[in-house]
Amino acid sequence: MPKKHLKEYHEHTTIPFPTGFLWGAATSAHQVEGHNIYNDWWEWEQRRPRQLRSGSACDQYHLYETDFDLAKELNHNAHRLSIEWSRIEPREGEFNISEIDHYKAVLKSLKDRGLTVMLTLWHFTLPKWLSDKGGWENSQAPYYFERFVQRIVPEIGEYIDLWVTINEPGVYIYKAYIERVWPPARKSLFGLIKTYLNLVSAHKKAYHFLHQSFPAGKPVGMANNIMSFEPYHKHSLTEQLAVILNDIFTNHLFYFLTQGTHDFLGINYYFHARFRHKGLIPETVGSSPQTHDVSDLGWEIYPEGIFDVLTDLSDEVPIYITECGIASTNDDRRNRFLITYLQEVARAIKIGVNVRGFFYWSLIDNFEWSLGFDPRFGLIEVDYQTQKRHIRPSAKVYSEIIKHNGIPHTLLGFIGHSAQADKILDKLHHYEKKVKFK
Ligand code: BGC
Repeated sequence: MPKKHLKEYHEHTTIPFPTGFLWGAATSAHQVEGHNIYNDWWEWEQRRPRQLRSGSACDQYHLYETDFDLAKELNHNAHRLSIEWSRIEPREGEFNISEIDHYKAVLKSLKDRGLTVMLTLWHFTLPKWLSDKGGWENSQAPYYFERFVQRIVPEIGEYIDLWVTINEPGVYIYKAYIERVWPPARKSLFGLIKTYLNLVSAHKKAYHFLHQSFPAGKPVGMANNIMSFEPYHKHSLTEQLAVILNDIFTNHLFYFLTQGTHDFLGINYYFHARFRHKGLIPETVGSSPQTHDVSDLGWEIYPEGIFDVLTDLSDEVPIYITECGIASTNDDRRNRFLITYLQEVARAIKIGVNVRGFFYWSLIDNFEWSLGFDPRFGLIEVDYQTQKRHIRPSAKVYSEIIKHNGIPHTLLGFIGHSAQADKILDKLHHYEKKVKFK
């Protein structure tokens, strides 16, 4: 076939992504490592039923090479993970050299496999000594965080390509101070505001330090939970107002307070909410399996939402989707999720949004905080009895997308206009027989 035709054929059959696009998956230390005995979560879990304790989690502390081999085998070219502050500084001001060496080995093994490394410095857990002092409510907390960052960054900096200072301050506040299902589970408006402002300050301090220590500049950002909001009735003023206020507080406030300290925007996208007024006060309309396609956690599958948030936040700085994923034991649903969400990401890129990477949440099933191990987010299934890993078919679909640096036409055929899982699964199996996965 002459070259020109080949090119046309390729363009016709694949929804392309930009050259150099980062494809990977994300995890966080406490959710996968196991036995993080010096943090606030560990202490909190001991008061909860056994099945809601992290225990050995996925034992990634020991099995990281196995997991990174799988990521590599599945064509990932990048990986997002976090380090556990409480391992590195188990007692105030005392840094554990062997744990620092452990993380050096972990990060080096990612580099040895040729993966681009995105590292999160804080992902929800605090050393117990700091939580005993009031955690993020303590006015010194940003300084303690800065001291930790100053100590660890020179040790591991050579292995890191992209820094994420902190993960989802809004979700942390919501879970810990409003729902109160995460430590410190406190009802305190003052504590909530202090925590939020200290997280703002912690991010800024880490940003400035990372720029001083690496003048050549490894990009620094943070991962923010960004939601897509909609009014139930397009012309309802109260519903529109609810959208605007929620958009400001959830999606824009942290960026506004930390202006000038983002080399990229890290977006974690999971949620879409519709507001419907009841009297004057609008409330969110829940999604249920009867009315919507939902995950095992009841979260609505709404691909258009990722397009909305990407276009809304499109700015001069690049965007990385630092998390996006679905809890489902129905892996066909995960296939459909991946294909439809990535189609929307591609649509956003096509109209000019500068998206540079996608990190599926998560590489492996893991400890889903207050919900324990039941939610299954992984591309790779974990058998918690044996710690064996099993690659799910969706991991192979994702791998196929990565291989093409785009969504092949054959995969689009799976979704059509129908949302019926069984039909799609049949087609996938048929496809798997025809296509040899790596
Ligand atoms: C968090 C993860 C969590 C995931 C799924 C994000 O809010 O960063 O730690 O497991 O969502 O709930």
